[in-house]
Amino acid sequence: MTTGKPTVAEVPVRIPVEAYVSEDYARAENEKLWGKVWQIACREEEIPKVGDYVTYDILDESIIVVRSDPETVSAFYNVCQHRGRRLTKGCGRTKQFFCRFHGWRWNLDGESTYILDREDWCEALDAENTRLPRVQVDTWGGWVWINMDPDCEPLREYLNPVSPMLDAFDFDKMRYRWRQWLYFPCNWKTALESFIESFHVDATHPQLGQWGTNRWWCRTGGKHAWHGIGTPRGDAGEIDPRAAMYELFQELWDTVGTTTETMVQAAARAKEELPEGAAPEEVAGFVMQTAAMADAERGVYWPQMTPEHYVECGLDWHVFPNSAILPGMTYALCYRARPNGYDPNSCIFEVYIIERYPEGAEPRTEWVYEPDPTEEKWRKILSQDFQNMPEVQHGIKSRGFKGPRPSPVQEVPVIHFHRTLAQYMGTGTPEDILARG
Ligand code: FES
Ligand SMILES: [Fe+2]
Repeated sequence: MTTGKPTVAEVPVRIPVEAYVSEDYARAENEKLWGKVWQIACREEEIPKVGDYVTYDILDESIIVVRSDPETVSAFYNVCQHRGRRLTKGCGRTKQFFCRFHGWRWNLDGESTYILDREDWCEALDAENTRLPRVQVDTWGGWVWINMDPDCEPLREYLNPVSPMLDAFDFDKMRYRWRQWLYFPCNWKTALESFIESFHVDATHPQLGQWGTNRWWCRTGGKHAWHGIGTPRGDAGEIDPRAAMYELFQELWDTVGTTTETMVQAAARAKEELPEGAAPEEVAGFVMQTAAMADAERGVYWPQMTPEHYVECGLDWHVFPNSAILPGMTYALCYRARPNGYDPNSCIFEVYIIERYPEGAEPRTEWVYEPDPTEEKWRKILSQDFQNMPEVQHGIKSRGFKGPRPSPVQEVPVIHFHRTLAQYMGTGTPEDILARG
């Protein structure tokens, strides 16, 4: 399937550790990064009806994302314009926003509708200075994105090339299959960086290497980067591709969910029905075609895209700053990491899978807080990744460590992440720091 793409390579660099361990840096991120970037606040499916809202918190900021009419999603700073009380927490459905302190109210467009004894202020309060201040909001891929910078670039410009490349996957038609989160004892970047490269797969997830291992190709575009499966290292030995594909899909289904039941069943059929000696490409083609037909029968369409485009999209996208999307034909595995206050050693980490379902068959899901990072609660693959994250956060602080040195070939997304971050933060890029010695 995904083989042999040319790789974007970088010069070798060391990333300054400050970005991971400094409280001052974490505070500067609040101003220079989080106040300026487009970030995912929620999925549209979380606010399907008028009045549905989600409260999105990032550091000291809290933002209400609300469906203010059937076609419009609005975002407001979650702060009463009287004396500053927060108005909402979590999610829910409401006809208006109501402050519990002195009872001021707003409609779903953020316009002030009630102020107790308004005449006390004489003429000082008007519609403009009492409305809930707006936050920039837009949607793409079924996600609601917010940006606190009133002068920000439009979302689609910001997302380029994520949006033109991944539009074909129709993420907006997908619905949550599963979603879990936890607080994690590492920097939000340490967490996310465990999921935007696959160079760690052989050592961290050795069970996946039994069907052979690969080098990985990487690409960058705009603020973002992605990678895919490159050339096999040739260590697979004598493997029947029919059995290999079935076993790999079954393993992925059991240990992380980055496939679907349909794909596993199609791979099982390939194993049964294809003749001995079938080439890997033939097996892959059979599985894709069989799965597409089986999905069509149950009312799940496959998006239209050329095989070349599918290959080009690779396996895993880093969407700057804090999301990762692993796209599949009918599903995507996604990660989001955010700081948990200004402690550089703590983050909020979320993992979720979205999937395209037959109409009406979407499961009802809620965010599950699952603090126990074990295989039992998070399945095998994630529990393996979770073992690295706090150890990295700890090790990075050592006097014996001068900074991460990602592979200039296979961990390009990590390097590119810090280059883009440095531009927002106004610090030297990793290359600059290296040049300074
Ligand atoms: S603080 Fe909200 S009404 Fe007074
Ligand atoms: Fe991993």
